[in-house]
Amino acid sequence: MKVDRRAGEAEDEVEAAAKRRRLVAEPVSSPAPGLVVRTGERGGVARRGRRRRVQADAAAAPVQRLFQACRHVFRGPGTVPGPDHVRLLRALLDRMGPEDVGLSPDLRFFRSTDAAAHQQGTPTVTHTTMYKCPNFSMVILFLPRNAVIPLHNHPGMTVFSKLLLGKMHIKSYDWAAADPHQLPDPSSTTTSSSSSSCSCCSSSSSDDTNQLRLAELVVDDVFTAPCDTSVLYPTTGGNMHRFTAVEPCAIIDVLGPPYSMEEDRDCTYYADIPYANHHQHPTAHGVGGGLTGGVEQDEDLRRLAWLKEIDMPTAELKMCSVLYGGPPISDK
Ligand SMILES: [Fe+2]
Repeated sequence: MKVDRRAGEAEDEVEAAAKRRRLVAEPVSSPAPGLVVRTGERGGVARRGRRRRVQADAAAAPVQRLFQACRHVFRGPGTVPGPDHVRLLRALLDRMGPEDVGLSPDLRFFRSTDAAAHQQGTPTVTHTTMYKCPNFSMVILFLPRNAVIPLHNHPGMTVFSKLLLGKMHIKSYDWAAADPHQLPDPSSTTTSSSSSSCSCCSSSSSDDTNQLRLAELVVDDVFTAPCDTSVLYPTTGGNMHRFTAVEPCAIIDVLGPPYSMEEDRDCTYYADIPYANHHQHPTAHGVGGGLTGGVEQDEDLRRLAWLKEIDMPTAELKMCSVLYGGPPISDK
């Protein structure tokens, strides 16, 4: 959501919000942290004229250190951080707590009972951009209890996620490799499955089955803050994930590079279909032909699922953006 305002007004709002240094939570029926509506791509970026004061503060500010590390690590599309850089960003995020972005567990938003009392319909996920440039973005997501960010991908991206507050279920997948399961090229399922009648692709249309691709489960667990930072990579670590808030959550995401429609990094959503729905047609799909049973193989199969591209599930996902109001970030 974008609202036209004069730049000066927007900067004044940034400064006022930064002075408060504390996000003010609202009931979940409103945008979560209840700040001003987002007006631009960059979040709480300190501007010229306040530079001296901001830099003095920034020397000790965890968000500023994180920003500086991101600027060092993410050098543009195609950059995948190496082990040393991953350790650096992970260590900085691991040490960060909610107070470092102006949050407190005492805020009304994070009190489950209040959230439940105000909750009606699909809970709204609130998004705030701390900083964004072509090489990376730093965002905070606020999920009321039961809010869901449906299964989606991060094309060509490395993403660091740090749960600051709350309890969240994360389920993630990577595309399954052909080896060691002797799985076929996903595109080969189209032709051969067009004559099958599996429960999840009963249509004989090749257009339907063409969207199915085999994926392997990476994470299926509940995380409670404080917990370590998780990292996903372009092809490993669970590049496609779903967030479900067991309790109201706040999570920092660092994305390098950020989503960009112009650079062909738009977000794709998926439905996951149990592998067993197609397992009855192993020959048709070319899957399972080399698997003859056994506990280990059964366990392997349970970690497989078919992913199907879907439109953005608007019934499941409501999102709004607010202006970042935590400690400022100086990009000078
Ligand atoms: Fe994500």
